[in-house]
Amino acid sequence: MANDLRGWLAEVDEMGELYRIDGADWNEEIGALSMLNGGKRNAPALLFDNIKGYPSGYRVLSCATATSSRIAHLLGLSKGLTDLELVAELRKKLPTWRAEADKFPPKDVQSGPVFENVHSGNDVDLLEFPAPKWHEDDGGRYLGTAHATITRDPDSGDVNLGLYRMMLHDRDKVALFARPGTHGNLHVEKWHARGKPCPIAVSLGHHPLLSRMASTSVQNEYNFGGAIRGEPIEVIREEITGLPVPASSEIVLAGWIYPGETKMEGPFGEWLGYYAAEAAPAPFMKVERVYHRNNPVLLGAPPARPRSESTHYRVLMGSAILHSWLEESGVPDVKSVWMSEAGVRMMIIVSIKQRYAGHAKQVGMLVAGSRHGDSGSNMTKYVIVVDDDIDPSNIQDVMWALCTRTDPEQDIDVIRRTWSSSLDPMIPRPANGFFNSRAIIDACKPFEWMEKFPKEIAISPELAAKVKERWSDLLNL
Ligand SMILES: Cc1cc2nc3c(=O)[nH]c(=O)nc-3n(C[C@H](O)[C@H](O)[C@H](O)COP(=O)(O)O)c2cc1C
Repeated sequence: MANDLRGWLAEVDEMGELYRIDGADWNEEIGALSMLNGGKRNAPALLFDNIKGYPSGYRVLSCATATSSRIAHLLGLSKGLTDLELVAELRKKLPTWRAEADKFPPKDVQSGPVFENVHSGNDVDLLEFPAPKWHEDDGGRYLGTAHATITRDPDSGDVNLGLYRMMLHDRDKVALFARPGTHGNLHVEKWHARGKPCPIAVSLGHHPLLSRMASTSVQNEYNFGGAIRGEPIEVIREEITGLPVPASSEIVLAGWIYPGETKMEGPFGEWLGYYAAEAAPAPFMKVERVYHRNNPVLLGAPPARPRSESTHYRVLMGSAILHSWLEESGVPDVKSVWMSEAGVRMMIIVSIKQRYAGHAKQVGMLVAGSRHGDSGSNMTKYVIVVDDDIDPSNIQDVMWALCTRTDPEQDIDVIRRTWSSSLDPMIPRPANGFFNSRAIIDACKPFEWMEKFPKEIAISPELAAKVKERWSDLLNL
C-alpha cells in the first residue's frame, strides 16, 4: 500500500480510476463537477490542475474514495465484492485492527517532503492554495473538507485526529465547525479552561486513509491507520505546536486557537443535503506556519445530497460497526445490517432469522438506542427489521417487505425525544434542544403465524438454471 497521496494517485491511475481536469475554476466549478461526478456508482477520482488563477501544479483532488473498488483498495479488502460482502469482510477485519492498533504507534522521523516549502509569520498566505467554494450558497471557500485536524488533550496528552469543516477567512485564519462532544471541540475547551490557546495542526492533503481515520470515531487514529496498513504511519513533531503531523503530508498548517475569539463560519452545504444553519461565530485557527510540498495537492470532499462521494464509505463502515456491536450484545441470528445510503444513514435496516416472539422488536430497540454506527447514528429516524430472505441493501426488496409484511397500526412504534443534532432540517429554530423521534418498524412476517404466512412467488434455483440455459442467448438472462 502506498504511504502518501502521490503513491495512492499512481495506484488509482493504474486502476484506470483517475481523471485529470485542466482549467476548472475554484469558484463553484470544481464543487459542481465533484458533486455531479461523486453521485455516480463508478465515479472516478478527479484531479484538478491549472486551476483558474493558480500556478500549474497547485492541484485539488476530489471523489477520492467514492466507489467500492477504491474503498476496498484503501482498506486492503478483496476486490469485486457486493456491498454486503464488503460489510462482512470489514466485520472480520475490525477486531484484528482494533487488537493490533497498539502495535502500530506512529513512528517519529526527522524530515519529510512536506518541508520542501516552509512559510512563517508574515509569509503565511493561505490564499496560496486553490481552496474551492464548493456549493453556490456556501458562506465562503472551504480549505478543509477532507483534512485531518490534530490536537492534544491537555489532561491525558492523547493526540486526536478529527475532520471538522474549515472555512478560509484570510491569509492566516480559518474558522472551524467542530460539533459539541467531538474530541477536537473537547480539547479546545480544555485548553481554554486553563486560559491557554489550543495548539492545533492540520494536514490538508495525505493518503486518503488518514481522512477516513480522522472522520471515524476510533481511538488513536494514527495507530488504527497503522494497523490497517500493517506498518506505522510516519510523523514529524511540528516545531511550533509539538504535535505529530504526517511526514508525507502535502500541506500542513500549524498554529493556535485563542480563547474568547471567534470568526463567522458557514453556512455550508451539509451531508443531509441542506444548509442546516446560518453563519455563526466559531473558534478559528491563527496559522503561524505553513509547510508544503512542491506542487501540493489539496484533498477535498464536498458534502452533498446523497448519493455523494463521502456517503458510501460511511455506510459500509457504519454498517460493519453496528453489526459487530449487535452481535457482541448477545442478540442471536442477525444476518445483515445496512445503513441506507438513500436514507442518509437515518434509516437502518437489519435482517434477522426470527427465533422467538419479540426478537424483531428487541433488535429494533437496540439499533434505535445505539451509538455504534459511526458518527451519524445520533440522527437515526427509522429502524426497519426484515426477515433473512430480504437483502437490506436492496431498497426495492426492503420496500416490498415494508408494504407486504406490516400493518402500520400494529408494527410501527415511535420513541419520542431521542438524540439528534443541529443538522436535522426538521427541527425548528431557535431550538431548546435537538431532539427527534425514532420509528421502529417490524417488517418481518408476524412471528406467531409466520409458518402460515402466504407463500411468496419464487423461481426455484433448478427451474431458473434450466430456463437460463435454454433461453439466455435470446433474453440475455
Ligand atoms: C467529509 C466529512 C466532513 C465532516 N465534517 C464535520 C464537521 O464539519 N464538523 C463535525 O463536527 N464533524 C464532521 N464530520 C464528522 C467527524 O469527522 C466525525 O464525527 C469524527 O469521528 C470526529 O472525530 P472525533 O470523534 O475524534 O472527534 C465530518 C465527516 C466527514 C466524512
